[in-house]
Amino acid sequence: MGTHYVVAVAGATGAVGREMLKTLEQRNFPASKIKALASSRSAGSTVPFGDGELLVEELTEKSFEGVDIALFSAGGGTSQKFAPHAALAGCVVVDNSSAWRMDDRCPLVVPEVNPDDLDWHNGIIANPNCSTIQMVVALKPLHDAAQIKRVVVSTYQAVSGTGHKAITELETQVRQLFNLQEPEVKVYPHRIAFNCLPQIDVFLDNGYTKEEMKMVNETVKIMGDPSIKVTATTVRVPVFYGHSEAINLEFGRKLTADEARAVLSRAPGVTVLDNPAEGIYPMALNAAGEDDTFVGRIREDDTIENGLNLWCVADNIRKGAALNAVQIAEKLIEKNLVTVSDRTVFEADAGL
Ligand code: A2P
Repeated sequence: MGTHYVVAVAGATGAVGREMLKTLEQRNFPASKIKALASSRSAGSTVPFGDGELLVEELTEKSFEGVDIALFSAGGGTSQKFAPHAALAGCVVVDNSSAWRMDDRCPLVVPEVNPDDLDWHNGIIANPNCSTIQMVVALKPLHDAAQIKRVVVSTYQAVSGTGHKAITELETQVRQLFNLQEPEVKVYPHRIAFNCLPQIDVFLDNGYTKEEMKMVNETVKIMGDPSIKVTATTVRVPVFYGHSEAINLEFGRKLTADEARAVLSRAPGVTVLDNPAEGIYPMALNAAGEDDTFVGRIREDDTIENGLNLWCVADNIRKGAALNAVQIAEKLIEKNLVTVSDRTVFEADAGL
């Protein structure tokens, strides 16, 4: 029997936290103990794990003593506050929030794309934004084949990305509308049922949303190539699970649709579903609950030199969040990196 690790899940009662627990169990993660952490509101309650359940404890600065690996999905503010304490306690954090993604001290990792960035971690590793993860899984093999110069992406994002409360909001609004009641709007700025919202997160001074700029900046950091230009329009749609993306690519050299199909068929974590004549293409409905990123509708774009269009779908809670975090933890183990080398680096963040 190999080494087993004490693992904590911070935000264990949330949409992503629950999926993290499910993923750890399904993949037989080498854990000797799993601690479920959440706010004081849910301390004392339980969350399902395998055939049993785990008692939820309150997340505090002291939660990480004796913990080897912590998976965080409890919001940016919570990560900002508690992840440094975890790292200082010698625990390696994989953080699903946006708090540490663009911090130069933290690698931003998708294991199929840049696993070696884990080599320079200081105790906090950032899990990228859900829409970015599935996009770079598809882009990396194409970039290696023909050098991507520019990406134009439009997203169709599920409500589960906003968390439990948004899943409930869509369900409730649909029910209210069918009962001829006025739908309650609490989570999003407008009604999401039977609607599309061209706003995810807040607007920035440049007219883009924060979500759009995450896709721009995170793609460059993960791919490690500042020459790749990305522009994004991110849209929330009334789908529960699974983000879809229409991606237009411009390459440095010609890549035919057949070549792209062949490259993607060999790529780790990608399944090509591309037979339009038979009505076969990726859909959120089928991607939900699956591990892979699905790519289809691959076709050449003749309006630019070396252009290609494709459609990319993945389960935003799984590959877009929980699975990618667990895969990072597995890669850390494989690379013998479950250790914090420089404990001083986050001292100021912890207020020390
Ligand atoms: P809780 O259920 O106790 O509020 P979601 O993204 O689905 O809304 O889930 C958010 C997760 O983050 C939940 O597990 C939630 O716990 C947790 N969380 C939110 N705020 C805090 C906090 N201040 N401390 C610890 N956990 C928090």
